Amino acid sequence: MKISILKIFNQVQNLVKAGVLATVFACFTTNIFAQKAIIIPIETQRHAVALQVGTDQRVGITYFGRKLKTTSEYQLIPAMYRRGDDYSGILNSAYTPSGSRNLVEPAIQVTHADGNTSLDLQYVRHQVHKNDKNVTTTILVLKDPKYALEITLFYKVYQAEDVIEQWSVIKNDEAGPVVLHKYASANLYLAAGSYWLKQYHGDWAKEMQPEESRLTAGIKVLDSKLGTRANLYQPPIFMVSLDKPATEDEGRVLFGSVEWTGNFRVDLEVDPLNNLRIIGGINPFASAYTLAPGQAFTTPLFLYTYSENGKGQASRNLHRWARNYRILDGNGSRLTLLNNWEATYFDFDEPKLAELIKDTKKLGVDMFLLDDGWFGNKYPRNSDKASLGDWQENVQKLPHGIGYLVKEAKNNNVKFGIWVEPEMVNPKSELYEKHPEWVIRQPGREEHLYRNQLVLDLSNPQVQDFVFDVLDNIMTKNPAVAFFKWDCNAVIYNAHSPYLKNQSHIYVDYVQGLYKVLERFRAKYPKLPMMLCSGGGGRVDYAALKYFTEFWLSDNTDPLERIFIQWEYSYFFPAISHDNHVTDWGKQPIKFRTDVAMMGKLGFDIVVSKLAPKDLQFCQEAIKTYKSLSDVVWHGDMFRLASPLENDFASLMYVNKDQNRAVMFNYQTGNRYGSGTGSPIQLNGLNRDKKYKIREINLYPDTQTPIKEGTVYSGDYLMTVGFNPVLNTRRTSVVLELTQVK
Ligand code: DGJ
Repeated sequence: MKISILKIFNQVQNLVKAGVLATVFACFTTNIFAQKAIIIPIETQRHAVALQVGTDQRVGITYFGRKLKTTSEYQLIPAMYRRGDDYSGILNSAYTPSGSRNLVEPAIQVTHADGNTSLDLQYVRHQVHKNDKNVTTTILVLKDPKYALEITLFYKVYQAEDVIEQWSVIKNDEAGPVVLHKYASANLYLAAGSYWLKQYHGDWAKEMQPEESRLTAGIKVLDSKLGTRANLYQPPIFMVSLDKPATEDEGRVLFGSVEWTGNFRVDLEVDPLNNLRIIGGINPFASAYTLAPGQAFTTPLFLYTYSENGKGQASRNLHRWARNYRILDGNGSRLTLLNNWEATYFDFDEPKLAELIKDTKKLGVDMFLLDDGWFGNKYPRNSDKASLGDWQENVQKLPHGIGYLVKEAKNNNVKFGIWVEPEMVNPKSELYEKHPEWVIRQPGREEHLYRNQLVLDLSNPQVQDFVFDVLDNIMTKNPAVAFFKWDCNAVIYNAHSPYLKNQSHIYVDYVQGLYKVLERFRAKYPKLPMMLCSGGGGRVDYAALKYFTEFWLSDNTDPLERIFIQWEYSYFFPAISHDNHVTDWGKQPIKFRTDVAMMGKLGFDIVVSKLAPKDLQFCQEAIKTYKSLSDVVWHGDMFRLASPLENDFASLMYVNKDQNRAVMFNYQTGNRYGSGTGSPIQLNGLNRDKKYKIREINLYPDTQTPIKEGTVYSGDYLMTVGFNPVLNTRRTSVVLELTQVK
């Protein structure tokens, strides 16, 4: 009996090998008869990607989804698919090569040293490295059988957070240079009935405009070609729901992102078998990269998390991961502040700033942040038209230098922070006159400015030194400086480096130059808090956030707009990284503006001396309140309860780890007749067995709350029936504190 089954098996296998049965078995068939298939499971706590080495030694992705209890069963998955023909046999490739049998979008495309453009990749070996109790890295080596080009794929798994980071290292062992035309970080493969992409677009003051739509056959590309403030039109973050758009608490969804502070590209290709191929990494646009013999190229990381419990869970996965592993001091605390940008713009001097420093103390925040306009002498920085590059204090405005302001801050018992934009230069500056060869621009072409400025060539090590020195000089002269706001207001036009021999390296080498500077800065100043800013939120990604404690979401601080902007950012970045300032944008009262800014790191950019007495009193009390609950906002789990896109109000909450404290923010976003919360809003993240009391906080002086304080509710009640914050057109923002009652 055994012998005859084996015979049949061998015959069928031979037919498959000969291609006779190829059309019967779908994609994923390569290995269904291979008795000893090599399966490489990449598993987090709840999620798995299964790789399988085919009899032809090609590595395919055979599974992406909920982790199976029995690892050996991943092997059985390919036989379940009958989706049609994969004429190439490598539609599910773990890293799709180009120029050989592939028919779809490649992950890698090269020209070999001998001019040949074909690439085939076969399994060499793999190993699993345990970084620590929570983190494991699977390393998979692939090689072209004909050419000495080796690709190593890395899969770094964060178990508890359900997060995976993938990247690749491409090594040229050929006798001459190899040109990389495309060199993605990751290549994923998902199977579902339909795919729903949520993507973002934007512009200055319009960051994070969401769109969700069904992916149709073909390729959808998300990308940036702007160079520096790469996110201005499109950020490198997206979500894909499987079968139907996931909701906050239901549905299968992947959140993905390229960790790269420059031109990125994500291809989402619904292939002929209706599977989804996702390829993400550096944008190959104008970026062919030449590898000398012996040289290796390490791609940036591609980050993703997968949830079967909707978008809320996916975002909490990312938040936890970001706080634990990525954002600088992600589990630490942050400095509340008073910023002078909108209070003064470029128009200030020492006495004016000294007053603002006093106001910082009066308000009760931790730090005064001096913004743009403090530097330049030959061409003073009195507008955005001049002086970027000339980082010496303007002697008219600051005759006693930054040191005086630092001292003033100390005398008032507050800290001092300062704005810089070190990557940029105004043509009207001494730096431009002295070092025209440091500027990115096309020789012989008219310069094209963005905000009257140009970008310095960070691929040049001398420029890297200069940029490092801008910050280091400030710190060396004023060691008590407690914070930097690092701005970046221009895109790259006329991409040409006077330094580089190979112009198609400019976009990549710029970003790597930036990282070199940031590495150096962090080696010397490991903990100094720093805000990532780019004319609003024009540049934020998880590679940059390794060096920054926080980021500026948008120059748009109209609180109504801000509810939407913060809402969307919150899917990907935790509250501790959100810098939110109370300003004079928008028509809402100070309470509304402050309540909205509290959903992150609170700051102010207002003229304190012009506040009405009650407004000032409210702000002072609000800062104290904020400090008492910032631990919950910064380190707790976030739950979105009612979306402003679907209601005329927004509601969300943060719950601390022990589930004994929570804060719920509620905002009225519509003002039509009868709008408001007519019904209770179901809470989330509490412990159903615990009991809680609810108190309205952050009340404006002399106002009453309709919310009764004495009542005790079970977590079960609050998560099943809910609670009505009583929002209406007269009570437009309501902050509630929940405390466990024992
Ligand atoms: C753009 C930033 O987003 C603003 O907050 C401010 O710092 C200005 N630049 C200063 O020029």
